[in-house]
Amino acid sequence: MNAEHLEEAKRLLTAFPGKSSALIPILHLVEDEFGYIPEQEVEVVADLMGVTTAYVEAVLSFYSLFHRQPTGKYLIQVCRGLSCHLCGADDLARFLHEELGVERGGTSDDGLFTVEEVECLALCKDAPVVQVNLEYRPRVSKDDLQRLIAECRQGVAQHA
Ligand code: FES
Repeated sequence: MNAEHLEEAKRLLTAFPGKSSALIPILHLVEDEFGYIPEQEVEVVADLMGVTTAYVEAVLSFYSLFHRQPTGKYLIQVCRGLSCHLCGADDLARFLHEELGVERGGTSDDGLFTVEEVECLALCKDAPVVQVNLEYRPRVSKDDLQRLIAECRQGVAQHA
């Protein structure tokens, strides 16, 4: 963690009634800095919080917003919640995997795309839903994804 983030983390530790409440915002600082949560930073955060690395790992495993490996420039998250599942999310995920040549959670060889499947994104009325770099793409179709991929490849995606 850089010096600025370390200062902010220390401030966060005093900003909440309980120290443990600062864990998520501190992890966001790390994710923002590195683009993922490196192993050595888990130890830094655990020391800072006064908890075990296993505790931090357990929290990390619960939230899809945190990554343990570097991701591509465009992080595509396909909702696999019930509404999206019923509206074809599996087909969308399969399409992305085939189109980009990536496994679930994998990153394309050119480093541009990471494709993940995540739990309900809380926009069920607009299923199927995909997020690209945390921006919602509601009622998305394969054609939409094809266009999105082309835009990203051209470096002109408006919301990436
Ligand atoms: S099930 Fe996909 S947004 Fe809720």
